[in-house]
Amino acid sequence: MYLIIRQIEKEDEKLLEEFINSLSETTKSFWYYPFDIGERRVEPNARNIVKMRKDTLETRIAIEDCKILGLAFLISNSKHPRMPSISIVVRDEYQNRGIGTRLIKELQFFADQRYNGIYCGVLKKNTKALEFYKKNYFQIVGEKKSHGMDAYEMRWWDDVDYHRKIEKLAIVTSITDKDHYKRHLEKSFSKVGVPYSLIKTDPHLPYTISYNSILKYKNLKDSKYIVFVHQDVEFLEDNWGKKIFELCDNLPDFGYGGTECRTEDGIRIGCGYAFPSKKRWGKEVKVPTPIQTCDAGIAVIPTYLFLERQFDTSFLWYPVHEDYACWVQYVRGLKAYALPLITWHAGQGHCRWIDEHLYSKVPKEERNILEERYGRRIYTTGS
Ligand SMILES: CC(C)(COP(=O)(O)OP(=O)(O)OC[C@H]1O[C@@H](n2cnc3c(N)ncnc32)[C@H](O)[C@@H]1OP(=O)(O)O)[C@@H](O)C(=O)NCCC(=O)NCCS
Repeated sequence: MYLIIRQIEKEDEKLLEEFINSLSETTKSFWYYPFDIGERRVEPNARNIVKMRKDTLETRIAIEDCKILGLAFLISNSKHPRMPSISIVVRDEYQNRGIGTRLIKELQFFADQRYNGIYCGVLKKNTKALEFYKKNYFQIVGEKKSHGMDAYEMRWWDDVDYHRKIEKLAIVTSITDKDHYKRHLEKSFSKVGVPYSLIKTDPHLPYTISYNSILKYKNLKDSKYIVFVHQDVEFLEDNWGKKIFELCDNLPDFGYGGTECRTEDGIRIGCGYAFPSKKRWGKEVKVPTPIQTCDAGIAVIPTYLFLERQFDTSFLWYPVHEDYACWVQYVRGLKAYALPLITWHAGQGHCRWIDEHLYSKVPKEERNILEERYGRRIYTTGS
């Protein structure tokens, strides 16, 4: 099983209790001190964390095989309403494996959308945490006494030099038909409306390519979002790239977005026009709408998340048929959305082919989980 990062659910209380009980005295002493909520002081025990998760806390756990390996949360800070405090801890025997970094990046991503930054107090003798925070772009801004001990005050601002702030798109398209590409997608590049770099994957590759093959393109890291787009898509609106920023910047738990999708109830959502009549099809959405699958048109993912999580290297998948990717995001605590962008694309009706050839490549174990979760409600789009 792989490590999943997600929010805490009500049902996690027992696992959380086991996790907290497993912590060594040293780890607890660094992590475990009461935090203030208004006038109240609250112990960070499993029940309180689960109870408060909805109102006061933004939580993330790292979980593998029903075992919590790390916990991090943001809690409102009465002194700095736009800068919540962070609390983070990783199971002793799993420290120094990058779990803390993954948790903190999740919360930075969240805070970036909602707040001005993140605050924390770190005991001076906790040199490991100090280095850990510095590595994650926190800066020392002051000193204080914390429960009678010397501590630093540290902050991370959302305007520090951080790669996610770069307002640029990476557009990835795999071209199997140059004519299609020239007739459709290429036309749209005159009206992106924001800086972008174009990553065209090799036309000699097989039709299916792995997500991770994208990682070798050096321009990728300069972008805030990666847009996977069909060669046969044309965007029917100006400044569509700008619109992607506007839409995606306001999605706090965003993992993936697409334009032709199905909801969990099987409702087909389309935000485009069908070839050749350019008549509208599907159900138009006016605001980003949670979905189960997404397909043709575009798929967008924050670059930071893509680099952090990556995808199974053995998993071959044409990067715009996204049942699997939506699901991966879902179990990791993020939603996939249909985005209200107007596109149209020239190909249609290859649903059975996707079922037989592509979907069957999902590793069996993961396919079983998918089917258990959605049963017969797994839809491929594009039909
Ligand atoms: C602080 C903590 C959350 C970090 O989580 P983690 O999963 O171990 O951290 P990561 O593996 O992602 O990052 C490790 C980083 O910590 C720092 N670090 C690790 N061991 C260190 C040591 N012995 N000395 C100094 N720095 C150290 C380094 O910056 C390291 O990065 P590097 O491997 O690139 O050099 C975890 O160690 C922990 O739970 N500590 C106890 C509770 C705690 O102190 N919480 C913070 C309260 S303010």
